[in-house]
Amino acid sequence: MSFMNKHEFLEKNSLALLIGIIVVVLIGGLVEIIPLFRKETVVEPVQGMRPYTPLELAGYNIYVREGCYNCHSQQVRPLRDEVARYGHYSLAAESMYDHPFQWGSKRTGPDLARVGGKYSDAWHVAHLIEPRDVVPESIMPSYGFLMNRGIRFFDMDKHLKTQAMIGVPYTEDMIKNAESDTITQATGEPRKDTSGLMERYGEKVNARDFDGQPHMVSEMDALVAYLQVLGTLADIELIGVAEQAQEKEE
Ligand code: HEC
Repeated sequence: MSFMNKHEFLEKNSLALLIGIIVVVLIGGLVEIIPLFRKETVVEPVQGMRPYTPLELAGYNIYVREGCYNCHSQQVRPLRDEVARYGHYSLAAESMYDHPFQWGSKRTGPDLARVGGKYSDAWHVAHLIEPRDVVPESIMPSYGFLMNRGIRFFDMDKHLKTQAMIGVPYTEDMIKNAESDTITQATGEPRKDTSGLMERYGEKVNARDFDGQPHMVSEMDALVAYLQVLGTLADIELIGVAEQAQEKEE
């Protein structure tokens, strides 16, 4: 069979043609999609990114459990008004350790991708207990019960281990110390020695009593610790410098 004959065969047999099309499209699809499963090829590295501390991870879990993503996105889009309101647009690397990511799709409340450091801990606690105490027109639900719920320490190491299995770079040391790091971060100096925690997660880790209840590590501590770190890890100033340099080159 010459090449023309083979082609004629395909053109005259719709089933063979269909199978041929499927095979070709599958190959093309695989070539396009498979490289994207490798994080290194789609996420530009950014200085300053680190995995969440165990306390922040507990806060992340509460954020997901309570469905905060139903009203809040975590994705500042590169649009002028959003950048003016929230700060530098979100970078892929900033959510690479979120499993699942919290970009969200509904914006009933403000975007939270850069809320870290915007308010004091006391503001967050008051706001989460009763949003209308600080923002009278707010329609956000109250989360006061978080103050009375202690966080679960005993399986913290398993949380980290699971994250490590799916590619978050938690070390053996971090996993081993997960439980004590949780307590240390929610207590801070001078009652706890934070040097080990800082060694593992960096000098900039916020370690203090977040909820104003020194006698317990509550879910409120974890959620506020999480909110306070959002958008603060990536070294945005460095990115600004790199972008300017690139613009000059072009
Ligand atoms: C029913 C929708 C809704 C849900 C659910 C919700 N929020 Fe909100 N949130 C809002 C609205 C609306 C605002 C703006 C008014 C205000 O500040 O209370 C807001 C504001 C905020 C702010 C202040 C943001 C800023 O930049 O001023 C934070 C922080 C926040 N929410 C955190 C949370 C967390 C954490 C949860 C989950 C425990 C949550 N929200 C659940 C609607 C919601």
